[in-house]
Amino acid sequence: MKPFSSHWQVAQNVSLKAWNTLGLEAVARYYYAATTEAAAMAVMKEARAAGLPVLVLGGGSNLLFAADWEGLVLHMRTGGRWVVAETEDEVLIEAAAGENWHALVMWTVAQGWGGIENLALIPGTAGAAPIQNIGAYGVELKDVLDEVRVWIAGKGVVPLKNEDCAFDYRDSIFKQMPRGDFLVLAIRLRLKKQAVPNLSYYALKQYFEEKGIASPSVAEVAQAVIDIRRSKLPDPAQIGNAGSFFKNPVVERALFERLRAQYPSMPFFEVNERQVKIPAAWLIEQCGWKGKRRGAVGVHERQALVLVHYGGGTGAELWQLAKDIQKDVAARFGICLQPEVNVLGGG
Ligand code: EPU
Repeated sequence: MKPFSSHWQVAQNVSLKAWNTLGLEAVARYYYAATTEAAAMAVMKEARAAGLPVLVLGGGSNLLFAADWEGLVLHMRTGGRWVVAETEDEVLIEAAAGENWHALVMWTVAQGWGGIENLALIPGTAGAAPIQNIGAYGVELKDVLDEVRVWIAGKGVVPLKNEDCAFDYRDSIFKQMPRGDFLVLAIRLRLKKQAVPNLSYYALKQYFEEKGIASPSVAEVAQAVIDIRRSKLPDPAQIGNAGSFFKNPVVERALFERLRAQYPSMPFFEVNERQVKIPAAWLIEQCGWKGKRRGAVGVHERQALVLVHYGGGTGAELWQLAKDIQKDVAARFGICLQPEVNVLGGG
């Protein structure tokens, strides 16, 4: 690797332990925390010109460092959220990439604006949200996203409209671009002033039925989501994790029918005429992995889709556990689980 000299205050050999919610030790050869868009783009361009691989870091909540990062980690720490435009029914807001996602949700909830209340408590930043089209409890970012302002190598800063982003389940156009070829600067969301609650997700509907609330407010929905998430997902501040480790697999109907005949209690979600989604958590639990611990890493006891790091372990150990789970699920069900987290290094 060529030595990298920057006009900016780029640090060397920086521990990333505090910057990934799995709490794994990994070292960034170069590290820069950008608090302005201009600085972020300048450092990104310098690193690219020097041939350095660039990893753009948001909240570090969807990353597994299976090895050190032999390049530049560009930590997006830009802040700010504001109203761009509003009508009688809608409000268009913009948030800088480095804004904390949950804080953004709670700000919109406090104003009574509807649209992202079901996405409360998702760890990470606003800038990372469109990359995997974050989703939970019946809502995905694509349902409210208006535009992503993004720097793209060879193109400069462009606004990408919702329809240009190729959003799909935990997927977007950004996942097709090489890492380091783009930098999300800000996102725009279109929210409703007269919110209609989305209670399509079973657990949410049940929560309000039990409480006898027919038409909950935006704040009540956010609180329900927070309560449900806290009841089954581990808090990264207490135990290292990156949320769901794998995506829920979408399988062809023929395979689904075969499995359903064998396992009548298997939960599923209809996708379209040809395909059905099966909860990865169920597949993992059936293979006996739920709550299993192996040294410093393990599978969460209340959500089999969440892999955890108890501290003192390595990314390689966690990745080995994930691969062993993949192998068992493939052998038993003929389904290949795909990681939802970004696995860096490790092969
Ligand atoms: N289940 C099990 N065992 C478990 C957990 C769940 O068998 O240990 C079964 C249950 O039958 C349940 C079904 O799996 O009905 C679905 O479980 P859950 O509602 O907990 O959701 P999920 O499909 O496991 C997805 C997202 C989560 C999101 C929740 C709620 C993915 C990969 N994960 O999980 O997102 O919070 O739905 O909408 O799509 C994340 O992406 O990091 C994340 C946490």
